[in-house]
Amino acid sequence: MSSRFLRTSLLIGAVSLLAACSPSEEPQKPETRTAAEPTAEAPAEAVREEAKAQSDQPESGVDYHSFANTSDFRVKHVDLDLTVDFDRKVLEGEAKLQLKRLTDKKKPLILDTRGLEIESVEAGHGGQLQPVKFSMGETDPNLGTPLKIELPKNATAVSIRYRTSPDASGVQWLEPQQTAGGEHPFLFTQAQAIHARSFVPLQDTPQVRITYNATIRTPEELRAVMSADNDPEAEMDGVFEFSMPQPIPSYLLALAVGDLEFKPMGERTGVYAEPELLESAAAEFEDTESMLEATEEAYGPYRWDRYDLLILPPSFPFGGMENPRLSFITPTVIAGDKSLVALIAHELAHSWSGNLVTNASWRDLWLNEGFTTYLTNRIMQNIYGDERYRMEMALGYDDLKADLADRPDGDEIMAIDLRGRDPDEVFSNIPYEKGSLFLYELEQKVGRENFDQFLLDYFNNFAFQSITTEDFEQYLEKTLLAQYPDKLDAERIRQWIHEPGIPEGAPVPTSDAFSKIDPVREQWLNGEMAAADIDTSDWTYHQWKYFLDGMPEKLSEEQLQALDSAFNLTESKNNEIAFSWLMIAVRNDYQPAFERLENFLTEIGRNKFLRPLYRNLVESGKQEMAAQIFEQAKAGYHPLTVKVNSKIIYGDDAE
Ligand code: BES
Ligand code: ZN
Repeated sequence: MSSRFLRTSLLIGAVSLLAACSPSEEPQKPETRTAAEPTAEAPAEAVREEAKAQSDQPESGVDYHSFANTSDFRVKHVDLDLTVDFDRKVLEGEAKLQLKRLTDKKKPLILDTRGLEIESVEAGHGGQLQPVKFSMGETDPNLGTPLKIELPKNATAVSIRYRTSPDASGVQWLEPQQTAGGEHPFLFTQAQAIHARSFVPLQDTPQVRITYNATIRTPEELRAVMSADNDPEAEMDGVFEFSMPQPIPSYLLALAVGDLEFKPMGERTGVYAEPELLESAAAEFEDTESMLEATEEAYGPYRWDRYDLLILPPSFPFGGMENPRLSFITPTVIAGDKSLVALIAHELAHSWSGNLVTNASWRDLWLNEGFTTYLTNRIMQNIYGDERYRMEMALGYDDLKADLADRPDGDEIMAIDLRGRDPDEVFSNIPYEKGSLFLYELEQKVGRENFDQFLLDYFNNFAFQSITTEDFEQYLEKTLLAQYPDKLDAERIRQWIHEPGIPEGAPVPTSDAFSKIDPVREQWLNGEMAAADIDTSDWTYHQWKYFLDGMPEKLSEEQLQALDSAFNLTESKNNEIAFSWLMIAVRNDYQPAFERLENFLTEIGRNKFLRPLYRNLVESGKQEMAAQIFEQAKAGYHPLTVKVNSKIIYGDDAE
């Protein structure tokens, strides 16, 4: 028992460890290795309140973003039967939850919901379900509304009839004109971090893992796919059956419906996309199978059976989302030259870091994203070689530096305090790039082979579990720190994880391919070389990106025109290049790029691009223009995109 565990016990008076309740029934280790379990006397809310009152530090292992009383009940399995109604923009039907009881007292079951309309609830044991009372608690703007269900004493199953709201935070309903084909509507869900509750009532916390089956009823011409056992041969009769036998946290529950076709890329890999995009996507991502094999080779078997990609319409708010067996991917990375496929390596790597070993709360997100970013770089090196590896790492490092330059200290800490905050709004490069740099330093210190062995053991040790930052620290102490006491330093590791900034002497990723760009940029800026005379014939995407991102704050109108006419940047087909150029254009008021800017902001919904562009517009005195474009584009944006960008444009108090 760790000292943290003892502290927790003292804090809440008594503790009921999950495993201690029913050791014989639990085939695996408990999913959560943390001990901050609320007790019968101290339900989740009380624990949260008390933890807040007693400490100005978040309590390890407490999920401050869920109402669920996970120490009384654990949802083990969900059966969904949902009808997809494109006219009303609702998902409607039934969720049946199989529970494991951890209490023999008569306790209500508290589930997470957001904007759900609950029609009826039945509960009972086995097949015998009876209507039961339920009530909705007070709505929290970040967390949604707790659903309290009065369960009979021995109930182990609950069935909820419900429908989603047309503006559900985790669902986007697209009109045909927002798709590549332009003829059929499209629907997709995005559950991470806390949006699963807006389309299924459940314990929406990464500490609970569920298996699920689903029946999805769609218009007959459309195909449904899920984070489950998709069957490309499924009959197109408007009814799709799914099963997900590996237990997953709720944020990996995912559904999409549209005019989708399938093309295999390798034995275990393939693409689902609208027919218009299928060929180009399959060609762009043809290395996916090799990436899968390379990752298995280093970090142990792929445990999820198939690995397919789903290409979404451009309003998808992220680059990618690691939904198990079926990563959701933005079409904006289909550049034609594989320059942006690190995204695929990233989502694939989550099959180990994230989906297999899962962050226990959103404070621990760096365990998902930092490990994944580190693995991404390693996969890229394996498939595309050293130079690409160095460039990807150096660009990531620059992103980190940029974020460190304009964030409050507290937000630079990997194990971040998110109490009372909306995880969507705290999103940054810190958990990704600082996490990855930390692991890179460990690798440098103990040697690559030893570090890979450590990672392999780590994934096996914690497979299908949710772990906290402190679990990781303890594991590191037992393993690498004990093995290499002369190479590693516990205090420095603590600093990496719990202090802002980057520890002094941390590695600085650099690339020779970039070092030769610096003098060229310099000469051009000094007027020693004309833009048209720069020999860019062998520049890769990464070098272009580096060239542009390294430009000074201010450029003159003549300089902007010279760059644009030499390299046609305003018309760039590579969205990352276009983005970097538009950032320069906005801050320098370069009008010739503004039409492209408006199109870019209207056609693409990826927040990685939209947030900085809108912020840049506002900060450079063009709030009105930002608002005008936003108002016009808004109907096509995902709810999340609307929420975070309206705050940027109209300030914190606005809707
Ligand atoms: N899991 C994330 C997306 C995410 C994180 C959604 C936190 C909601 C909350 C996904 O794997 C991701 O990191 N996507 C990045 C990819 C990039 C870093 C290669 C993205 O979308 O830009
Ligand atoms: Zn990720």
